[in-house]
Amino acid sequence: MKRILLTILITSFLFGFIGFQDDIWKAPEAAKKIKNPIAKDDASINRGKRIFRSRCAVCHGLNGKGNGPGAKALTPKPENLASERVKNETDGEIFWKISKGRNDMIKWEPILNEKQRWDLVNYIRSLK
Ligand code: HEC
Repeated sequence: MKRILLTILITSFLFGFIGFQDDIWKAPEAAKKIKNPIAKDDASINRGKRIFRSRCAVCHGLNGKGNGPGAKALTPKPENLASERVKNETDGEIFWKISKGRNDMIKWEPILNEKQRWDLVNYIRSLK
């Protein structure tokens, strides 16, 4: 496990160093297949919206456009969560990214329980 992490670290350093770094954040193949256990009904979307406003909007903006007050200082900046690229991701990929984090995106797994993270996925799915 440590060796894999080290290899990833060195590889991403080298790629970044020679300027080939692919900025697009990809979830692993297995994450794509994680099934969303929570129905996308109004109750779940509203719960997700409430959590989003208190925990995520500082960076992602109230409507997920990536224009929250905290976003200015970040590199890379948070995505527009209603973009085509995010729309084309599976629920499982979004869930995985929320759970694991990267760079300034917080790893929410230890902070929010699974149901809360799925409610957030359902809310993000409802963004226009
Ligand atoms: C401190 C600022 C910050 C907070 C708070 C934050 N995020 Fe993020 N988020 C980011 C940044 C920065 C990225 C881009 C990270 C990257 O590409 O390396 C990101 C990326 C994401 C992505 C990935 C988009 C994609 O597919 O590429 C999702 C989904 C996401 N955030 C959801 C959330 C949710 C849900 C919350 C609240 C529970 C949240 N974020 C809170 C900064 C934040």
